Amino acid sequence: MPVAVVTGSNKGIGLAIVRALCKKFSGDVYLTARDTGRGQAAVAKLQEEGLKPLFHQLDINDLQSIQTLRDFLKEKYGGLNVLVNNAGIAFKVDDPTPFHIQAEETLKTNFFATKDICNELLPLIKPLGRVVNVSSVMSIRALARCSQDLQQKFRSDTITE
Ligand SMILES: NC(=O)c1ccc[n+]([C@@H]2O[C@H](COP(=O)([O-])OP(=O)(O)OC[C@H]3O[C@@H](n4cnc5c(N)ncnc54)[C@H](OP(=O)(O)O)[C@@H]3O)[C@@H](O)[C@H]2O)c1
Repeated sequence: MPVAVVTGSNKGIGLAIVRALCKKFSGDVYLTARDTGRGQAAVAKLQEEGLKPLFHQLDINDLQSIQTLRDFLKEKYGGLNVLVNNAGIAFKVDDPTPFHIQAEETLKTNFFATKDICNELLPLIKPLGRVVNVSSVMSIRALARCSQDLQQKFRSDTITE
């Protein structure tokens, strides 16, 4: 049975992606959330719409939680067909939290935790599988403000970690 997983999908864009996959993807679709209560409430909402998403807890900042999902997917499906890396955070523009703390918190989730997910789940992706990384127009803007050298480095097709 093909299987799709969407990170951070109890609300917002992630929830909309799960809704669309439930309608278009022929396989099991997992709505995931760091908070089980919020996740199950979102599943119930989609069930009221006649859809049948499944639920699994996933906090991308918690390696143990990622590995539990990885082991579950391996055991139940022998891999993964579709991974949508959607979970992310953004401080409001007027948030008074000092910049260095905002930077650390944001990179922790949006970059390092997403990288942890990739390290753990990419080896499970089946042939012809798909991985979608939800990004932001902010990344293009930020890149445009970098030096030419740095831009070239980041745009390189042969970039390494
Ligand atoms: N909306 C925009 O205009 C916009 C623009 C550019 C990029 N994006 C990107 O699109 C994605 C979705 O954004 P959105 O607007 O739908 O945001 P949202 O409504 O704030 O939803 C974010 C989702 O990510 C979850 N999440 C946050 N940290 C998590 C973690 N450690 N583990 C698991 N889930 C976590 C949240 O769960 P909780 O409910 O538990 O907090 C929530 O379900 C993000 O990656 C964001 O950067 C959005």
